[in-house]
Amino acid sequence: MTDDRKAGQALVRCAGITKYFGGVRAVNQVSLDFQAGEIVALVGDNGAGKSTLVKIFSGLHHPDEGSIWLGDTEVMHLTPARARQFGIETVYQNLSLCDNLGAAANVMLGQEPIRLRIGPLKFVDTQKSIAEARRRLSELGSTMEDMITPVRRFSGGQRQAIAIARATVNAHRLIQFDEPTAALGIRQTHATLDLIQRVAAQGVAVIVISHNLDDVFSVAHRVVAMRLGSVTLDAPLAQTSREQVVACMTGMSFGRESA
Ligand SMILES: Nc1ncnc2c1ncn2[C@@H]1O[C@H](COP(=O)(O)OP(=O)(O)OP(=O)(O)O)[C@@H](O)[C@H]1O
Ligand SMILES: [Mg+2]
Repeated sequence: MTDDRKAGQALVRCAGITKYFGGVRAVNQVSLDFQAGEIVALVGDNGAGKSTLVKIFSGLHHPDEGSIWLGDTEVMHLTPARARQFGIETVYQNLSLCDNLGAAANVMLGQEPIRLRIGPLKFVDTQKSIAEARRRLSELGSTMEDMITPVRRFSGGQRQAIAIARATVNAHRLIQFDEPTAALGIRQTHATLDLIQRVAAQGVAVIVISHNLDDVFSVAHRVVAMRLGSVTLDAPLAQTSREQVVACMTGMSFGRESA
């Protein structure tokens, strides 16, 4: 484990992040930090800005205002390549798999074990690649006999498992899951939540976007709620309640404490 992955140090941090899409302020003055080994649940209603924030950390969207630090380094213009190089991986809500490739090639994309190198030519060790992809999928409770046929016709749950398995290959600092269990069955949901906990235990920071508060309360250490682009709650799980989380997501009051 490198120094910046010691518990208690922020691996990724942002301050005052604002992002506009035309006249829509999708993210508004967001300041957050993500620690090694910590699972942060990011919750909020549709359109709250969750996916936009995740895409900012993966370098896909550039904030109009604010700063991002990767470890101790402030990064002025975070690109997808820089995020990836730092070890930030994302499983997106709209999965981006290569439909014309098989399960193994999708899981191992860009990380294929090489059998032989002749000058610029690389020959992938297909057997090793299939074995490694199969191992990662089985960790997610997913068994796929066919690792070769293009994934075009695979079920939503199978595609989700492939996307998650791929992200874990390279995520050594931050892994972001945008609705990881939405398309999954009960067994795969449990396996995915287990995997999220195992990845965090290895010292990776984890962000999980979910509308399922059962999932949130079963794995998260910290809950961040967003509403209309702003962070309305950032609290350790033990110091909040479902009622408070829902109130912060919806803006509706609860109990006596709320405004
Ligand atoms: N590429 C884009 N172009 C224009 N507007 C966008 C774009 N992406 C997001 N938005 C807008 O930004 C706001 C936040 O959207 P975002 O997708 O981040 O919400 P979300 O919290 O992920 O919602 P959901 O739970 O529905 O996935 C919304 O008003 C959305 O319409
Ligand atoms: Mg979203």
